[in-house]
Amino acid sequence: MTTDTTPSVALITGGSSGLGLALVHALDDAGWTVVTDARDATRLSDAIAGSAVRGVPGDITDADHRAALRDLVAELGGLDLLVLNASTLGPLPMRPLRDYDPLDMGEVFRTNGGAHAALMTSLADELLRRDGVVIGISSDAAVQHYETWGPYGASKALLDHLVLTFGAETGLATYAVDPGDMRTPMQQDAFPGEDISDRPHPDSVVPRLLALLEQRPERGRYLAADVTLPEVASV
Ligand SMILES: NC(=O)c1ccc[n+]([C@@H]2O[C@H](COP(=O)([O-])OP(=O)(O)OC[C@H]3O[C@@H](n4cnc5c(N)ncnc54)[C@H](OP(=O)(O)O)[C@@H]3O)[C@@H](O)[C@H]2O)c1
Repeated sequence: MTTDTTPSVALITGGSSGLGLALVHALDDAGWTVVTDARDATRLSDAIAGSAVRGVPGDITDADHRAALRDLVAELGGLDLLVLNASTLGPLPMRPLRDYDPLDMGEVFRTNGGAHAALMTSLADELLRRDGVVIGISSDAAVQHYETWGPYGASKALLDHLVLTFGAETGLATYAVDPGDMRTPMQQDAFPGEDISDRPHPDSVVPRLLALLEQRPERGRYLAADVTLPEVASV
């Protein structure tokens, strides 16, 4: 993080809902300069209304949108934190591989993997300028093999690999983080009609991501639940 009085700068993709929104609000509350995006412009502006968060509506698979994000970050003087969070499950309901249209599979890889990698590499100089951190939001599906989760899981394995390779190539601190199940629209989409109220709120994952940022452990893949929280002094 920056050591001068300049606020730290974060770019979090997919900040209008779920984990992205929870993190956007936490960093904004902590005085960071926060940039985020999402495709639905109204939902995005409603989600960040009343905050200092800079919302840039657009689709991460669109090269012009990624260039707009990069230009804004350059204007802000660099990047302390990049969180590759926006994601698609693919066509719903989720389906077995033999029922998958190959073009749909390509779109899942493009959204969750390739487009985010293109954003990340385009921001290399901005990250290096501030010794920034990259967090790719992964999933247990990246390493487990669940029926109907194949393309999504493979796309998360792809993201993990690209994020960690980028770290090896640049020396930046890069992490693939599995947040665990969370009570979000994406989780509901994956389990239509199911009661998902037993899943933790995404707010509960944010302190783990902030602790990772603070601790800067070795580059690698982490379960959010395994990241140690700072001890709270007892009175
Ligand atoms: N929820 C879980 O249980 C769970 C478990 C493991 C991993 N994860 C991972 O955690 C991350 C956050 O998931 P979530 O559950 O918080 O999801 P969510 O509530 O559905 O939010 C997804 C966000 O991404 C945006 N988005 C989706 N596609 C986009 C695109 N092509 N371009 C730009 N923005 C896009 C969405 O807005 P628009 O639709 O308006 O674009 C929304 O702001 C994801 O990477 C997910 O794979 C979630």
